[in-house]
Amino acid sequence: MSASGARRWPYPRILAHRGGGKLAPENTLGAIRLGAAMGFHGVEFDVMLAGCGTPVLIHDETLKRTTGGRGEVARTPYGTLAQLDAGAWHSRPFRGERIPRFEDAARLCRELHLWANVEIKPATGHERRTGEAVARAAHTLWRGAAQPPVLSSFSPLALAAARHAAPELPRGLLVGRIPRHWRELMQDLECVALHCNYRALSRRLAAQIHAAGYAILAWTVNDRRSARKLFGWGVNCLVTDALDRVGAEFR
Ligand code: G3P
Ligand code: MG
Repeated sequence: MSASGARRWPYPRILAHRGGGKLAPENTLGAIRLGAAMGFHGVEFDVMLAGCGTPVLIHDETLKRTTGGRGEVARTPYGTLAQLDAGAWHSRPFRGERIPRFEDAARLCRELHLWANVEIKPATGHERRTGEAVARAAHTLWRGAAQPPVLSSFSPLALAAARHAAPELPRGLLVGRIPRHWRELMQDLECVALHCNYRALSRRLAAQIHAAGYAILAWTVNDRRSARKLFGWGVNCLVTDALDRVGAEFR
């Protein structure tokens, strides 16, 4: 990374998506351990509020896909979530993995010296509350850390609440496609980075985003050719599911 790139993004340049990419059950402690064991220095994971307000690692609003449980995360207390098996759907060796609390994941990341991109993943209708709770928790959990996490979200409401709760934590705006008014959004939310689907980027757009002073994180890049191209455009950070294929060459 060039000197100006490193100034914009002083974090690892490749992150393990949802902890361990496709090689482990997403958003579990086992996944985060695997990411670290495979030599990653940074991970991305998703945080949502359980029914009781405890922040937990999970991607979907419902429990079915990753736990076989029934119902919605936002209506289920953590005590119930903690009983579910969040690893069996993936593969036998991961049976018995649990839905971790955000605080468990943060502790593990600090122990393993892994940097984190914490994606605030609010259940519909819980955007502000989630942004605020996750930012407050992150503020406490990474107290004294050399590199606290970047908080990102697809939800501008969640990011605004995060800024209010912990203004010192850097923020990234997540987008699938890059909206025409990206500059205004980034400015309003005081974000440091645009986190976009890599397919939405072009060399020209990347140059414009950098010229505006922002870093670029691209997800989810699972082949080396795309990774090389994106780094060639100066993209600061890639998130990958292919820890084995993409990870090794670019860490
Ligand atoms: O933060 C990058 C990426 O995780 C965003 O999409 O749906 O995998 O959380 P998703
Ligand atoms: Mg995510």
